[in-house]
Amino acid sequence: MPLVTSKEMFEKAYAGGYAIGAFNVNNMETIQGIVMAAQEENAPLILQVSSGARKYANPLYLKKLVEAAVEDTGLPICLHLDHGDTFELCKDCIEKGFTSVMIDASHHAFSENIKITRRVVEYAHDHGVVVEAELGRLAGIEDAVNVSDADAAYTDPDQVQEFVAKTGVDSLAIAIGTSHGAFKFKGEPRLRFDILEEVGKRLPNFPIVLHGASSVPQHLVEIINQYGGNMPGARGVPEDMLRKAATMAVCKINIDSDLRMAVTGTIRKYFSDNPSHFDPRQYLGPARLAVKEIVKHKIVNVLGCNNKA
Ligand code: G3H
Ligand code: 13P
Ligand code: ZN
Repeated sequence: MPLVTSKEMFEKAYAGGYAIGAFNVNNMETIQGIVMAAQEENAPLILQVSSGARKYANPLYLKKLVEAAVEDTGLPICLHLDHGDTFELCKDCIEKGFTSVMIDASHHAFSENIKITRRVVEYAHDHGVVVEAELGRLAGIEDAVNVSDADAAYTDPDQVQEFVAKTGVDSLAIAIGTSHGAFKFKGEPRLRFDILEEVGKRLPNFPIVLHGASSVPQHLVEIINQYGGNMPGARGVPEDMLRKAATMAVCKINIDSDLRMAVTGTIRKYFSDNPSHFDPRQYLGPARLAVKEIVKHKIVNVLGCNNKA
C-alpha cells in the first residue's frame, strides 16, 4: 500500500467518534517508536513534518523513512506537512510526495487567509493531495513563531462556513484554548467546547483538527526535573478533554511535545544511570521505546483509534 491521504481516515473517525493521532517526526527513532505503537494497536497514522523538521532532517530522508514504515507494516499512513506558511512550501512538499499539507495562514486577515488557502487547495487537489487550514490563532511556540497569549484568538464559528466554502479545504484547525508547547495553562485548563460544538453544527460531517494537544504527563515532567531538567509549571491538556473532543467533530489530534518529553526524560535518566556510556544506540533505543509507550497510551486511551487501521 502506498502513502494515503487522510480523507478516508477522517470519514471513519468522524462516524466512529474517535480521532487520528498526528505525531511530529524529526528522526528515525521517533518514527519507529510511533509506528511500532500503531502496529501493535492496529491504528491508522498521520506522521507530520514541520518546516523545522524539514530543515533539521531534509524532507526526502523523512519521506523515505515513512515509506519504509508503510512497506514494513502495511498500515494506512498519511505524510503531512505541519504548519506550512507559504504556497511554495506546500508545493514543494506536494512535489516530494507528501499526501497532505497544512497551509497555516491564520496570522493573516480573514480574506487573505482565504486567498492563500484557496491557492494551495487548487494546486494540492490537482495532485491528489488534501489540505488542512487554520482559522483562529493558537498561543505558544511553533518553529520560529512565538504567539503570545495576547495575540491568540479563539475561532469565530460565524466564519467557518464561508471559509470552508470559499477555500474548498478538506479539514480545519480551530483555536479553542489549546496551545503549542509544554506550558499551556497558567490556571485551570479550560477548552471552549461551546465553540467546537457551534463549529460542528455549522460544518456537518466536516473534520476538525486540534493543534497543541499534548497532555504533558506529570510523570514525564517529574523525570525531567529529577534528572537535571527544569520544567516547573509545565502543564498540558487533560486527557479526558481530548477524549471528549475526539467524540465530537475533532478527527485529528496533533501531538509533539509529549513525545519530545518522553525522549528527553528517558535520555536524561539514562545518562544519570550510565554516565560512562557513549554509544548512541544505548540511549536512543530506550528513547524509541518511550515514544512507543506514550503513543500506545494515546492511541488506546485518548484517541480511541486502536483497531481502526
Ligand atoms: O506546532 C509545532 C510542532 O510542535 C512542530 O514544532 O516547529 O519546533 O518542529 P517545530
Ligand atoms: P503540542 O506542542 O501540544 O504537542 O502540539 C503539537 C502541534 O500542534 C503540532 O502542530
Ligand atoms: Zn500545531
